[in-house]
Amino acid sequence: MKIIIVTTCLIILPCLIKCEDKSFLKIPNNLKIGAATSAYQIEGGWNTSDKGQSNWDDFTHSKSHLILDGSNGDIACDSFNKYKEDVQLLKNVGFNHYRLSINWARILPTGFANKISKEGIQYYKNVIDELHSQGIEPFVTLFHWDIPNVIAKMGGWTNELIVDYFTDYARVVFRELGPKVKVWITLNEPNVDCSEAYDKETHAPGLNMPGIGSYMCGHNMLKAHARVYRMYQEEFKKTQNGILGISISSSYWFSKNKNEPESGDIAFQNGCGWFLNPIFSKDGDYPPIMRKRIDENSKLEGHPKSRLPVFSPEWIEYIKGTFDYFGVNHYSSRYTENVPYNNITGWYDDTGIIESVNQSWPRGASSWLYVVPEGIGELLRKIKNDYNNPPIYILENGYSNYGNETNINDINRIDYLYSYMKEMLVAINRDGCNVKAYTVWSVLDNFEWSKGYTERFGIYHVDFNHENRTRTPRLSVAWLTEVIRSKQLISFDEFKAKFM
Ligand code: GAL
Repeated sequence: MKIIIVTTCLIILPCLIKCEDKSFLKIPNNLKIGAATSAYQIEGGWNTSDKGQSNWDDFTHSKSHLILDGSNGDIACDSFNKYKEDVQLLKNVGFNHYRLSINWARILPTGFANKISKEGIQYYKNVIDELHSQGIEPFVTLFHWDIPNVIAKMGGWTNELIVDYFTDYARVVFRELGPKVKVWITLNEPNVDCSEAYDKETHAPGLNMPGIGSYMCGHNMLKAHARVYRMYQEEFKKTQNGILGISISSSYWFSKNKNEPESGDIAFQNGCGWFLNPIFSKDGDYPPIMRKRIDENSKLEGHPKSRLPVFSPEWIEYIKGTFDYFGVNHYSSRYTENVPYNNITGWYDDTGIIESVNQSWPRGASSWLYVVPEGIGELLRKIKNDYNNPPIYILENGYSNYGNETNINDINRIDYLYSYMKEMLVAINRDGCNVKAYTVWSVLDNFEWSKGYTERFGIYHVDFNHENRTRTPRLSVAWLTEVIRSKQLISFDEFKAKFM
């Protein structure tokens, strides 16, 4: 488990862009602006028709004490019934795209491809048709942290059989929905889910196998991602012509001390390189620094083999290059410091890095969400420089309020989105980063995993105490609508002076 230290020290962040020049704040015509959600967080309808149980249905019902407010996604935003209204809300803002995910157990009730739910498929067809009818492009995620519970009981992502099951499931989705979808995301934030669900007990199924579970999970996720990518090329690309990628959660890490400039990159390699290196690098496989440190720690702990599984040369080749774009979810940043190697305990935390934050950074309602806009610019430039300038899809970025407040005047969210979008636009317009899409998390307040409904990311407020799950636009809706309409980023003050 990582310890985050809050410091008060003043460190000058490297970037600090001068972008008074308004031309940097123009939204390029080819940059798509959209919003995201995921199935378990918004749909509800947990036991409609023949839907199977998911790992999250089981986890929230049997271990409700692990959810901060004891809640679950049984009804959530009720988007299972209210999807038409939701599409209208997206349309009102002028979003280009909507990123949604498929609930595997809704379309394969047994978890396996022997039985396909007509109702489940129909639901997603309806949503996608509705989006198209309003001119909104669907971006579809195959796995956003929910899997059929029967597979979770088999060990979930730690069981290699899931590679086949996931491929079977993806084939059904491509066959049924593929003609209407051009942008696919195989896996959402494998780096987060593997740690929270298999090293710890914060995400379903909560196997709690520190230092073991996450690496087993990651190994199988990488195989599953590659298998689905290649299956799509062979069976669907010609007729459907979509693009596929994976969405990695990436903070930016600033080296705290001048004399150890490498510490930020070491944190990056362990946090994201874990999934990026095998797919996006020239040589493939896990980052060498990750391999080295986990191997050494495993040895000191008396393991006969490394806790980080080893890919065969065939798998390394097979996984390498399985992307059409670089998908990234970004929210926050950290400082990093090296922790020296110790002959008895080995590398601290497998990484050898300790992370901290600066107390002067503002924070959202989420304990981890420090506002550090410089980080997104640095991250985009790092991706451009280290990974050969790939097309980048930003698939999540957003800000949380507390759930006990309505926060209709969400000026903090506007400030956050403004400052992050500003750094992104400078990275595009000044530095030539190839960003194709920017996606706000989230359209609606929704079930925030182990935080239940206590943290709210929506630009629309949702009343979870009312059976209608009434949606009310926050101020950020009006601000974003204007930004998208005018294709010019403006601050809250400029917006207020003009429109309020
Ligand atoms: C991401 C996750 C989303 C959402 C968001 C806000 O890590 O993919 O589902 O919960 O964080 O915490």
